Amino acid sequence: MTTIGIHDIELATGHYVLHLDDLAAYNGVDPMKYHAGLGQDEMSVVAPDEDIVTMAASAAAALLARTGTAGIRTVFFATETGVDQSKAAATWVHKLLGLPQNVRVTELKQACYAGTVALQAALGIVSRNPAERVLVIASDIARYELDSPGEPTQGAGAVAMLIGANPALLEIEPHSGLFTAEVDDFWRPNGSNTAVVDGKLSVSAYLDALSGSWEDLQAAGGPAVSEIDRMIYHQPFTKMARKAQTRLREITGGTAQNDAALQTQEDALAAAASYNRRLGNTYTASLYSGLISLLDNDPADLTGKRLGLFSYGSGSVSELFTGIVQDGYRQVRDSSRVAKLLDEREKLSVARYRELHESVSYADCVTPKVTASPFRYVGTSDQARKYERV
Ligand code: CAA
Repeated sequence: MTTIGIHDIELATGHYVLHLDDLAAYNGVDPMKYHAGLGQDEMSVVAPDEDIVTMAASAAAALLARTGTAGIRTVFFATETGVDQSKAAATWVHKLLGLPQNVRVTELKQACYAGTVALQAALGIVSRNPAERVLVIASDIARYELDSPGEPTQGAGAVAMLIGANPALLEIEPHSGLFTAEVDDFWRPNGSNTAVVDGKLSVSAYLDALSGSWEDLQAAGGPAVSEIDRMIYHQPFTKMARKAQTRLREITGGTAQNDAALQTQEDALAAAASYNRRLGNTYTASLYSGLISLLDNDPADLTGKRLGLFSYGSGSVSELFTGIVQDGYRQVRDSSRVAKLLDEREKLSVARYRELHESVSYADCVTPKVTASPFRYVGTSDQARKYERV
């Protein structure tokens, strides 16, 4: 039987890092509030010549260097940091990667959830024609107002995934638990570079969406909690995954078998949080950077293990689905690559970070050369964005 899922996956992030100890000192906050209270240690920050397109192209180029481009006829770009109201960010990525012209590309939006709808659409395309492969990219820059409660949860990153038949990493199973509820927990009005957020409401909306998705997954015939070996959650800050696991225990715990599985899942949350603690929130990419983090950092052999993946996008849409880790998954990727990427970021002072935060603009400009990544945002000329391969 043909299986379909994630064949390969890769991550890219911003040029800079801000250490949350420095932000805590500036804000006069106990650093343990960030490290333990939110579960965050660092945040990635983009350089003036980086954006969602350059990060997306960097992640995809690293992936395609291993897999090649054969069979790719679709590129889906999920983001809530769109750089244009009409043109898909995928058009620039398509050009930067040198993909052939007989490829369809588009951009998808629903807050942090859109990467998952892109993945589901890709599974549909491959199930119609197993010879095709789909490049799914999730890329975002999380920006809140300076001095706001959301500030320490900012971040930046992109994940690229190749979806195909007989995947080498993760077979995606057919059942999904879905939940949609219109709610004003977090959004970004037209013309605003930062999100508007009701933080406490967003946390409760996320947890209610998890309950609703779980219920729907069970109604759809999905696996019981005792049949799921690891849980990976969307991580706006990594403590949120712990809150989610507590909610899952509330709705499924109480039998010896379930409690044992829930404990094993809880013990593994640290592995899925390892990169996210250092990236910050990457919105659409966050669930999938959690997946990479788990695959790279869980000391157990995950071959044949069932992963539960919970995707949440404010506003709100959520989906809970499962996948089976494939034999040989450890040979697919270099498990030291992402840690190296994170270590190599250039450290920012709080003063410089605040300057960069306030300098985001869509006006015509020429950017300085800063990024060490293979792609640059050159600037905007006559309102048109320009990119180059370095
Ligand atoms: N040591 C240890 N822990 C400490 C501490 C200290 N010195 N001081 C405070 N804490 C703990 C608090 O007890 C609290 O823990 P619990 O959540 O377990 O109760 C935690 O630190 C946070 O502190 P506050 O309750 O004071 O909350 P805050 O005012 O700092 O705001 C937040 C937290 C609402 C999450 C805020 O960061 C925010 O608005 N973030 C952006 C929105 C967000 O990420 N929402 C998540 C769900 S929505 C979503 O998932 C979509 C998305 O990506 C945005």
